[in-house]
Amino acid sequence: MIDIHCHILPEMDDGPQTLETSLKMASMAAEDGIRVIIATPHTDGIRVNYESVRDGVDHLNRALQQHGVTLQILPGYEIPFHLVTALAHTHTLAKSNYILIEFPHMYVPGDALATISRLTGRGFIPVIAHPERNGGVLRNPDLMEPLIEAGALSQLTASSITGDLGPDIQWCAHYLLRKNLVHFIATDSHSPSFRAPVLQKAHAVAVKLLGRANAELLTTGNPEMIVAARNRPPQ
Ligand SMILES: [Fe+2]
Repeated sequence: MIDIHCHILPEMDDGPQTLETSLKMASMAAEDGIRVIIATPHTDGIRVNYESVRDGVDHLNRALQQHGVTLQILPGYEIPFHLVTALAHTHTLAKSNYILIEFPHMYVPGDALATISRLTGRGFIPVIAHPERNGGVLRNPDLMEPLIEAGALSQLTASSITGDLGPDIQWCAHYLLRKNLVHFIATDSHSPSFRAPVLQKAHAVAVKLLGRANAELLTTGNPEMIVAARNRPPQ
């Protein structure tokens, strides 16, 4: 499995504050069957930027080798919606043409559809992070439909699917899954305990809801498309 949304780099954002905690998260992920993590710290384009993430990823990959943890970290970012137009080019997932976008927590911005269309027109593939935790989508999950039709993909949080974030979020997550509006399941982990860096439990729920082949796409097949597109930014 591949985790495309994880705050695993130390001292970068509100994720782990020490290398030791990052290594603990990495061990948990590897034991759970995750073999690649795209590190996606929150970025403002200033402190968390191309260089700091590149250096952080190199450092963590070296430490993983030294500690014998079989896991690869690739660089990425979680971009707040209001900065996406400015940062898209330099802040993609694994240097591909996929970008991870976080909406404001309480609503879907009025210009979301126009922005998604503009990004896809420029060759990006926008991935909307955890829509099931967004206030607007929780009230009306069908808001996701036109965004997906415009070329966006969506990523659910593993702990939303398992019910660890409450029944409303779980209901919304399952609704989106059943309506075929989901492309990735990721951990959005911030520490060994705050949304733990594991996918197996959510994967098992997805198997029950959608069948094995479709569940595999969400945790392995579709994430592999991002890894396969790595080092291929939009022209
Ligand atoms: Fe996140």
